[in-house]
Amino acid sequence: MSKGYADVVVGMQYGDEGKARIIDKIAQNYDVVARFNGGSNAGHTVKVGDETVALQQVPSGLFYPDKILYVGSGCVINVLKLAAELEKIAAIGIDLKGRLHISSQASVVQPHHLLIDAMIGGTVGTTKNGIGPVYADKALRMWGDRLLNIRLGDLLDNREYYFGMLEKNLSEAVKIYGLEAGEAADLPEKMKQAFEAVAGYVEKDTLFMERMVEKGARVIFEGAQSYMLDVTRGSVPYVTSSSTIAGAAYVGGDLSPQYHRQTMGIGKALMSRVGHGPFVSEFGGAKSEEYCMLAAEDGGPKYGRAVEAQYDLEALIKSEDPFEMAKALRILSGEYGTVTTRPRRVGALDLVQLRHAVRVNGVKGLYLNKCDLLNVFSRTKDGRIPLVTGYELDGEKIDYIPGATGAYGRVKAIIEYFDGFSEDVSEVRVAADLPANLRAVLKRVEEFAGCEIYGVGVGPEREQFVEMKKIG
Ligand code: IMP
Repeated sequence: MSKGYADVVVGMQYGDEGKARIIDKIAQNYDVVARFNGGSNAGHTVKVGDETVALQQVPSGLFYPDKILYVGSGCVINVLKLAAELEKIAAIGIDLKGRLHISSQASVVQPHHLLIDAMIGGTVGTTKNGIGPVYADKALRMWGDRLLNIRLGDLLDNREYYFGMLEKNLSEAVKIYGLEAGEAADLPEKMKQAFEAVAGYVEKDTLFMERMVEKGARVIFEGAQSYMLDVTRGSVPYVTSSSTIAGAAYVGGDLSPQYHRQTMGIGKALMSRVGHGPFVSEFGGAKSEEYCMLAAEDGGPKYGRAVEAQYDLEALIKSEDPFEMAKALRILSGEYGTVTTRPRRVGALDLVQLRHAVRVNGVKGLYLNKCDLLNVFSRTKDGRIPLVTGYELDGEKIDYIPGATGAYGRVKAIIEYFDGFSEDVSEVRVAADLPANLRAVLKRVEEFAGCEIYGVGVGPEREQFVEMKKIG
């Protein structure tokens, strides 16, 4: 029997590119959907009839009953949240027994990680899931006789001892950092109970993925977060704490790189970013960042979805102030935090950033979501579609993302304008039916970024998708 292969899908920008909908779409070409990084800081929603189920740790591809779902050793597991997710999945009638395998080497998010993230995560604007602290403890390994990196396999191997250790880590952290344990004091016991629902999915065979591929399995690695949030190559320090780039799939995904076939990127035609940090193509620049962050610090609703929904959309679109115009784009594209409803920062498609991401990740094919929204520009004062096609740093042109955060913050965008289109493309399903001006933009994206466009999203629903190239 011939061996299988693996493809990797990664977000090209700052997250929220709509990775899950694409993976759900293409999962039919694969046998295993696997995750290699992150934890409950990721999120995707699945629709079942009228019901929407929010998932964070279970890979996409849930709806294909024959697909194996794998969570690799590079992931971090919140046992309580995972148990709740499994319950929701069972409630919609999906049985994961024998389908879901979670690496025994994946680290456990402990109660003190949540406390520490709540204490210090605000500056970066983390999701407060304890992600930074759990990866930090993984690197620290031990503190005296305390084991800091507790893994699922440890809990399975000796529940009493390792749950005891987890409790000890909590009480020590409370002392060291002068914290109030508060509700976290009950977490060790709750986690112990929740672990019973998770234990059956822990995969003890550390060669599981190798064996699958040796038997012919086709794997799709689903990257969580995105390239710009990579802990090393991304927009440091405003990043997540894991490696999000394609190469990381062969570290945290528990498969050797000999099976890599291709990398696919997912981006969106209108970019967004949550949290602080450089965002070259942001409409309204620093003013927008300040506004969105203020709303975030207020807990969201002040300038959130409900407030912005009241604004006069047409007046915003026509505004000559990009900061105001961006509000219209945010309203139309629904760029608000799913839970917090806080506004995301929005910007034009940055082709310099995209080309950089394509090169770092070795992307062959790109899926570009939100292309339907580009028609909004036909209603603006200018009427044309802006794309960033150059960077200027301190008066000099550069063609890469500077390593220093301060320098990236000083980069000025060089913008190229393309003729707009006013057609509603949300019902289009074949490439030939896309307006010529949109096709011209897509061609420029391919040429500039140096990869092929495999598909474009033309609306939020799964079927609102135009396939440009068949894979598989
Ligand atoms: P953390 O991953 O919770 O530590 O958050 C670090 C940064 O990554 C923050 O700016 C988060 O908003 C961002 N982030 C983490 N996960 C996601 C995601 O799935 N989409 C978009 N941003 C994310």
